[in-house]
Amino acid sequence: MRSIPAVLIDGRKIAAELQAGMKCETERLKSEQNLIPGLATILIGDDPASRTYVSMKKKACDSIGIYHEEHAFPEDVGEGEVIRLIRQLNDASKIHGILVQLPLPPHLNERKILNTVSPKKDVDGFHPVNMGNLIISDGTLVPCTPAGIMILLERAGVDIEGKHAVIAGRSSIVGKPVALMLLAKHATVTICHSKTRNLGEYTRRADILVVAAGRAKLITEDMVKEGAVVIDVGINRIDGKLCGDVDFEGIRKRASAITPVPGGVGPMTIAMLMRNTITAAKSTLK
Ligand code: GUN
Repeated sequence: MRSIPAVLIDGRKIAAELQAGMKCETERLKSEQNLIPGLATILIGDDPASRTYVSMKKKACDSIGIYHEEHAFPEDVGEGEVIRLIRQLNDASKIHGILVQLPLPPHLNERKILNTVSPKKDVDGFHPVNMGNLIISDGTLVPCTPAGIMILLERAGVDIEGKHAVIAGRSSIVGKPVALMLLAKHATVTICHSKTRNLGEYTRRADILVVAAGRAKLITEDMVKEGAVVIDVGINRIDGKLCGDVDFEGIRKRASAITPVPGGVGPMTIAMLMRNTITAAKSTLK
């Protein structure tokens, strides 16, 4: 056990600082360029967590000065109707970002819907064009959670070059893009997933451990190297209480720095969505 407990990486504080800077930027864009960044969110069905996330995104827009439009469909909406709305939003001049809240009901083809969003308005960074740009390290609209993780590491003073980064989870939203971003910063990257044999053998070798597996307390104290930096992307609910994918209390005794859940990665995802919306709006000026 380390004698000093891990430093807590305060995502709430860092996101609030970033959003304060964005508020100044939207004020300047409005006064100097007559430009108000605009975000449209599309919510399908009535999943309570998705509803909460969309309302948090709306609140962030309001506090920064981003125009927000919320579009909601019932669970049984047809694919054609969703695609028609996205095409309208692609053509709408006051909308610079379009976000389709995931997960979608099973009858909808997620890829077909996400691919309909114009890459220029794809503030989630999920379109193949933006995913491809990330592979060649030329991304402007990059996925929000991975982008937020990179800022957390930077703000925590973590030197990434040459470090061994281990990622638990291979989703297109977090695991794969964060692997590419860490690789671009010259980490040696290992991606583990649900079929990885003996996960602990890999995680114990991580200088930087990113856990985005969607399983509460998947990572226990014995699976973490002393002094590692641990980024917990999980959001699980146990008996009504939020917890991440790592055993926070056990691991904070071994790690050098760790993100809490809630208050770590989550607020950064929203801040990065706001940043992408401003970036998309600014790109219309060129
Ligand atoms: N559902 C969970 N995470 C995300 C995200 O980053 N973007 C969208 N659109 N939906 C999500």
